[in-house]
Amino acid sequence: MTINISDTLKSLERSATLEINEEVKKKRKEGKKVLHMGFGESPFEVHPHIKKALIDNAHRKSYLPTQGLPELREAISGFYERKFGLHYDPSQIIVGPGSKELIFDSLLTIKGDLILPVPFWVTYEPQAKVMGKNVTRIPTKYEDGYLITKAGLEEVMERLPASKKAQQGILLINSPCNPTGTTFSKNRLKEIADFARENKIIVISDEIYGLITFEGIEHHSIAHEYPEGTIVTGGLSKHQSLGGYRLGVALIPQGEKEFLEKMLSIGSETWSCASAPIQYAAIAAYSENQSNEKFIKDCTGVHEIVTKYVYSRFVEIGIKCPEPVGAFYLFPDFKPFAEKLEKANVSTDEGLCKDLLEKVSVAMLPGTDFGMSKEELFTRIATVDYDGKIALDTYLESKDKWKKDRETFVETACPNVIAACNQIEKYLNQLS
Ligand SMILES: Cc1ncc(COP(=O)(O)O)c(C=O)c1O
Repeated sequence: MTINISDTLKSLERSATLEINEEVKKKRKEGKKVLHMGFGESPFEVHPHIKKALIDNAHRKSYLPTQGLPELREAISGFYERKFGLHYDPSQIIVGPGSKELIFDSLLTIKGDLILPVPFWVTYEPQAKVMGKNVTRIPTKYEDGYLITKAGLEEVMERLPASKKAQQGILLINSPCNPTGTTFSKNRLKEIADFARENKIIVISDEIYGLITFEGIEHHSIAHEYPEGTIVTGGLSKHQSLGGYRLGVALIPQGEKEFLEKMLSIGSETWSCASAPIQYAAIAAYSENQSNEKFIKDCTGVHEIVTKYVYSRFVEIGIKCPEPVGAFYLFPDFKPFAEKLEKANVSTDEGLCKDLLEKVSVAMLPGTDFGMSKEELFTRIATVDYDGKIALDTYLESKDKWKKDRETFVETACPNVIAACNQIEKYLNQLS
């Protein structure tokens, strides 16, 4: 007996980021040394305040409302107000098992095709394709930090056939961005918002890295400019390092009752509710707590030092890369080495990633997983292959010193990151 697979799933593969993580874990179990720049999991420990709340609520075994605990939604409402000046009534908030799921449910609920700026987070396009949605990719430029502009959107709209233009579309944006570490300015978001409003486009704004912005950089949400047409998603996976807790949130525009109802219908027919003990622990994570707020800031401080260090090494080596201002990723372009790589029989991004893993034990993801074409020689690098506790303790010993001397910090607290940079440099130097 062979189980026939649904047509829409035929091209679906396992998420590239999760797959490389499993591969690296397997290699490490076999005793092989791998420098892991492929997977973006924030490595810090669970904050004690949240851990305690989870332990205290381990006995909560009943199903909860699909929309999420009212006390939790109240806390989330306060969090978005405090952190980003966004006003959402708890009735406009949905709590789900990760924002990935809530992005999927939003895409499923909204009629229309997807407009997707390239590069994009690996998951968006496969999600849309599973639903049979057409995806229109929008190219972006290095000078714009690989983020869309109004001009880019206009160009795409012109290319669409009249029948598509008349339909409501969905635009998915992500800021701070995985894979580039860049963010939208307020002005750019305003232009995009005006364009979306004029063209009846609904925006899904993935703001999961909203609290991880580097010194002097403020996170802006398009929901300020386009509240009536934006669904904001976020969660605890990144700033709180709680990816495995699986808790995400979606903020729904005021008055969109039917949309909210349908989202809850999907939730109630599929995941029922986010895990009960986790929801109780999440109340602690979203409520005002000085120690936790400091913890989040300090973790971001570590991300900033490490990510900026890797960026400066890449620039020194001659790799082209937009400057990161948030999250913990870089999107280097190895095109300056294209001729030399070609001579070594490496002409695609996948070939480059394979060669780097084989020859110098550095794991990273090819740009094709993020929507680039394979000859463009982009890779996506995550800068989190270190022990979070050691890195945070080291950082706290002397924040100001480390900010001025990133290299010594990374040498002391993140040896795999230094080793990966050295290995990449060695690999490129041996090309003739
Ligand atoms: C851009 C982006 N959005 C969403 C997610 C998923 O978040 P969650 O753990 O809430 O599903 C990730 C995780 O890697 C991500 O990088």
